[in-house]
Amino acid sequence: MAHSVIDVIRTKRDGGRLDDAQIDWVVAAYTRGEVAEEQMSALAMAILLRGMDRAETARWTAAMIASGARLELTGLARPTVDKHSTGGVGDKITLPLTPLIAACGAAVPQLSGRGLGHTGGTLDKLESIPGWRARLSADEIRAQLDEVGAVVCAATEGLAPADRKLYALRDVTGTVESVPLIASSIMSKKLAEGAQSLVLDVKCGSGAFMKDLAQARALADELVAIGTAHGVRTSAVLSDMSVPLGCAVGNALEVTEAVEVLRGGGPADVVALTLALAREMLAHAGLSDVDPAEVLASGAAHRVWRAMIAAQGGDPDAESPRAAHVETFPAPATGVVSTLDAYAVGLAAWRLGAGRTRKEDDVQHAAGIRCLAKPGDHVTEGDPLLELHTDTPDRLPAAREALTDAIAITADAFTPSPLILDTVRP
Ligand code: URA
Repeated sequence: MAHSVIDVIRTKRDGGRLDDAQIDWVVAAYTRGEVAEEQMSALAMAILLRGMDRAETARWTAAMIASGARLELTGLARPTVDKHSTGGVGDKITLPLTPLIAACGAAVPQLSGRGLGHTGGTLDKLESIPGWRARLSADEIRAQLDEVGAVVCAATEGLAPADRKLYALRDVTGTVESVPLIASSIMSKKLAEGAQSLVLDVKCGSGAFMKDLAQARALADELVAIGTAHGVRTSAVLSDMSVPLGCAVGNALEVTEAVEVLRGGGPADVVALTLALAREMLAHAGLSDVDPAEVLASGAAHRVWRAMIAAQGGDPDAESPRAAHVETFPAPATGVVSTLDAYAVGLAAWRLGAGRTRKEDDVQHAAGIRCLAKPGDHVTEGDPLLELHTDTPDRLPAAREALTDAIAITADAFTPSPLILDTVRP
């Protein structure tokens, strides 16, 4: 039945509930181009101001999934489980986690995105490996899941097209910051991927979308409720993003750090979060008797990494690209680092060339920042605290400017805040 879009907008504008038929119709008609951008823009603003309840949000998500094709993953020999991060600075966890889970016995279909703004994108990171290919067909994804157990690639074209259109509209109409719209956007893509279970890493802090714990918890609750309503085992880990994760921020630098973790080294926070998410994913997949720490130490996850990169044309033995210019940023005082602001470091890495301003921009594979000290570490005034990497040194002043207020040093002892803040289960 055709509905009047003006009635749908008025219902939400006046604080009413949208019924299932209205939601199904408006999402499908917008995808087909029968609801105009200005009408969807008004509806998105009404939703931002009035909200949607759990049932409306679950139905909105279902309508966005139904706007395209689902990836068909039934019949794989292993249980399927995926992870999604709401995005942060230095967040390279997908890189060690995906092969680790495959090495533990599950299959991970990890459809990822590119970076926009100060947060990095997994595909940009992997594209710093010579030959590696992000675009796979649905058949190639399935075959790789069968053979290797792990795939990280770009979302296939037909996946949740309503979200692609709506997200672009929200981006230019001030309607991104709505928990039901963010949650349905993330979950429509993840549920269309077809994994049987899902763990969300909801980041909280200056480098994240959600700046405080109450907001992050509200988003986590909503994400878990949508997944559960769709019959997918879903939980969310709330993790700190006030400080960059690990020491490397930027595409090739992060791949190098991820490989260090897979070889049994790497920064303690990256290892801890990888293992915490792995335990949650393995529990969903019915593999809680497998200890991911043991599997990581055995080298099995590193072997899966090599197979996963090679299967997509990448050379796992290739030298990591190096930036043409590396400069240091000194510690402003002697004492213990108490702040290393994630947003500022992400912004500086982006300005050095690690990120893009417009979708069509290229990124510099080797650009970024290495943190030589983190909160809790003692530093001496003037000693190098950060390394700034770029191919284009004219970018350095803007990066330095982003870092002006990023660092605080205290004379007192300082204990960094915990990395894992909570876990939300249905
Ligand atoms: N990521 C998404 O995929 N959608 C949003 O709305 C926000 C973040």
